[in-house]
Parts: sequence; C-alpha cells; structure tokens
Amino acid sequence: MSTALVILAAGKGTRMNSDLPKVLHQIAHAPLLVHAMRAGSALVPERHIVVAGHGADLVEAAARAYDETAEVVLQTEQLGTGHAVLQAKEALGDFAGDVIVLYGDTPLIRPETLEAMIAARATCDVVVLGFDAADPGRYGRLVMSGDRLDRIVEFKDATEQERTITLCNSGVICASREALFGLLDRVGNDNAAGEYYLTDIIGLARDRGLSATAVTCEEAETLGVNSRVELAAAEAAFQSRARLSALEDGITMPAPETVHFAYDTIVGRDCVIEQNVVFGPDVTIESGAHIRAFCHLEGCHVSQRASVGPYARLRPGAELAEDVRVGNFCEVKNAQIEAGAKVNHLSYIGDATVGARANIGAGTITCNYDGVFKHHTEIGRDAFIGSNTMLVAPVTIGHEAMTASGSVVTMDVPDGALALGRAKQVNKAGLAVKLFDMLKSKKKKQREDAE
Ligand code: UD1
Ligand code: MG
Repeated sequence: MSTALVILAAGKGTRMNSDLPKVLHQIAHAPLLVHAMRAGSALVPERHIVVAGHGADLVEAAARAYDETAEVVLQTEQLGTGHAVLQAKEALGDFAGDVIVLYGDTPLIRPETLEAMIAARATCDVVVLGFDAADPGRYGRLVMSGDRLDRIVEFKDATEQERTITLCNSGVICASREALFGLLDRVGNDNAAGEYYLTDIIGLARDRGLSATAVTCEEAETLGVNSRVELAAAEAAFQSRARLSALEDGITMPAPETVHFAYDTIVGRDCVIEQNVVFGPDVTIESGAHIRAFCHLEGCHVSQRASVGPYARLRPGAELAEDVRVGNFCEVKNAQIEAGAKVNHLSYIGDATVGARANIGAGTITCNYDGVFKHHTEIGRDAFIGSNTMLVAPVTIGHEAMTASGSVVTMDVPDGALALGRAKQVNKAGLAVKLFDMLKSKKKKQREDAE
C-alpha cells in the first residue's frame, strides 16, 4: 500500500516570539519541519505534501531543500486542522493509498511509531496516534470502547467526565485518501473554537460504519513546540535519544551528556567521542576514529583510525583519510588530508591538498585568501613543512620537499627540494651583554630621578 504524508505547518507560532515561521526553528541543526518529514520518510511515502500558511515561501524552500519532490499547498486562513488537511485534497487527486497526517511542529515522532500505525491500518479504517498524558491539560481526549475508538473530544468541548480521560490525541492520524476526504467533507465548525476539527472525522467514521482505533506511543514523542522553552526541551530530548543510540551502536563516550549531535551525524563503530564535542550538519566519522575533547566539526568526513583534537575545528569540505592526525588548535577547511598525514599543532589548512604522510609543522598557515579570491595549496606526499611556514597560495610543494621553519613560501617548491624563504640570520658577538648593561643602567637612573 502506498502512502502520502500531509504535514500541517500553516500556524504562525505566536508564542515563539519570532519573525521566523515556527516550523523553521531548528533542533539539532534541522528545522522542526524537516524532523517531521524525516520521520515520515521511513514509510517511503509516494507523496510529501506540506500545508503552509505563515511564511509559506520560506516553509516551501525548507521543505524542498530536504526533498525536492515535496509539494506545498497553501492554507491562507487557519480555520482548523480539518480545514488544513482539506487543502491537500486537490493535490492528492485520485491517489490510491493511505494518508498520514503529521504536525510540522512535532519533531520527535519515531519512524517505528508510524510503522505501527500503518500496520494497524490493515484491520481498521482510521488509526489515531494516542498517548497517556501525565498532565492531559488541553489535549483532545480519545473516547475508547475497548480497542475501538468512538470519537475524539476537544478539551474545550469536553464534559467534566470526559476531561478525566488521560489518553490523549497526538494529532497524527492515518486513513485511506478516500475515507479521509469523504469524512472531512462532512466536518463542520459548530464547536467551542469555531474551527474545522480534523478530530471530528472519528465520530463521523463510526456513524458511517467505518472502524477506528488508537495506537499509542510514549508521551515524549508527541512533544509539540510552541515556545522557545519547548524548543529547548525538544533539543534536549533529541540529544538524549541520539546519545543513547550512539552508545548502543558501539561508540564510546565517557561523557555522553556533553556531546551534541546534528540530526544527520553518522559515527562508525568503535569510535571514541570525548567530552564536549559538537557536531554541525553533514559529518561522517568512520569506525575506529578518535575525536578528542572540545572539537567542533561540520560538513566533514573523518576516515578510519584518524585522530582529531583536542580543540580542533573541522569545517565544510575537510576530508581526513585513514590514520590522519589533526591536533590541538588546528582548523581545516575545504582540504583533503591524505593517509597518515599529520597537522598536529596550531595550524590553518584551507583550500588545500596535503599528500600522504606529509608532516605539517606547528603554526603553519595556508594563506588562501587575498581579500577577494581563494587560492589552492598543494602539498606533496612525504613533504615536511617546517614550523611557522606561511604557504602563500596558489603554491605547490613537491613530493618529499621541505620548507625551512619560518619561511614565507611564495614560489612552487620542486620535488625533493628545500625551500628557505626567510631573512638570513646574523650573530653579533657580545652585543647582548652590552645591550642588557645599557638598559639596566637606564632603568636604575630613572628610579633615582623619581626618588
Ligand atoms: C490539536 C488536536 C488535539 C490534539 C493536539 C495535539 C484538533 C482539532 N485538535 O489541537 O486533539 O490533542 O492537537 O497537539 O485537531 N494547523 C494548521 N492550520 C490550521 C490549524 C492548525 O496548519 O488551520 C497546524 C498548526 O500549525 C499545528 C497543528 O496544525 O502544527 C495543530 O494545530 P493546533 O492549533 O496546535 O491544534 P491544537 O488546538 O493543539
Ligand atoms: Mg497545539
């Protein structure tokens, strides 16, 4: 059975106190909307439809950036969740399959939960995702008769007795396209909020002899974000989950609570991730690599057995091959560091290729930017770059070549050559002692004059 996702994302999110539409606020470096789309993607949906309203252009751009086949339909007035889903009716046309409705502001739903809903659809016409709420507050309540879901009553419309129900509506709902829109066409807005409630389709389904049931999940999965406080709580929940799964996947973390993952971080088995490591988006760490304390990584690839940090920064385009070492206070950007090469101390390597087994001395800088253009530095295999070398790009250092410490290298260095690019040293015999004597007597005279 094919599925289509309909993600509700038209709301403004007034309580975010923000110019940005609510669903574009991020956790783990991805918009809330993308988290919902990713969870839904596990079902390999045929269609991804996002219902946008506030900031629709921005919402559309974010949806397309994640999935270029995503379709965005407009809900110009927010007349309720039922009305929102109806905006997808035309786009879905005669799609023959199941529709899953998700909320764009609910980022923690697990793919397994959605799969359980699809499984329940095999024997039931409409499936709702419910949860047992610690504090049911203003959630819609699921009115059950055994396994059968009779209706959903919104808090505002509920009787005192119905309000004692703790099984609540998460908002996620699944039905065939035909049943969903057949039922939605009959939903009115004669209720306490004057809105078209999606939840009314359950009562209507029963009246038409269709069956409905609820699948349940942990309350944590249904956490919706309405404020910055809830955004921070969702981030914390995401991180706890990501850390736990990393530990289960065979990654050693002595202080997992200090490691921050991005939504798409990939870390291989038997890696060690030390304290206070922060992952930005698009990072892959292969198995057996060691990321020491206080590193910041984004848009980079670290191969097997490589070692990074402590205190290193890998920026987009940093490619570390097997057994590479990048040490403390080094920054690598848009550079390939080939197998076994070492960049161990206080270096900036940007727009460069560093050959296999090359050694980059402390304080080496690739001077890649002339203020307008970026230029490339090529360093050959087994090259030895002396400490504090300034490599003024574009420049090529040959295989097995050397640069003398403190050199400013502006010309290409042939294979096997030594480049000396610094002022020649001169020693003046006895001059240091003379200079000290002169300075000391000057200081003494100053003190005497002051007294
Ligand atoms: C809804 C459910 C309630 C459930 C709760 C869970 C209904 C009628 N009620 O209530 O049973 O317990 O969610 O959080 O469905 N949206 C639109 N367009 C609209 C209205 C809403 O896109 O016209 C979007 C919102 O941006 C939001 C989501 O739909 O992402 C839910 O809307 P919201 O107004 O928060 O519904 P609740 O009143 O919380
Ligand atoms: Mg809500």
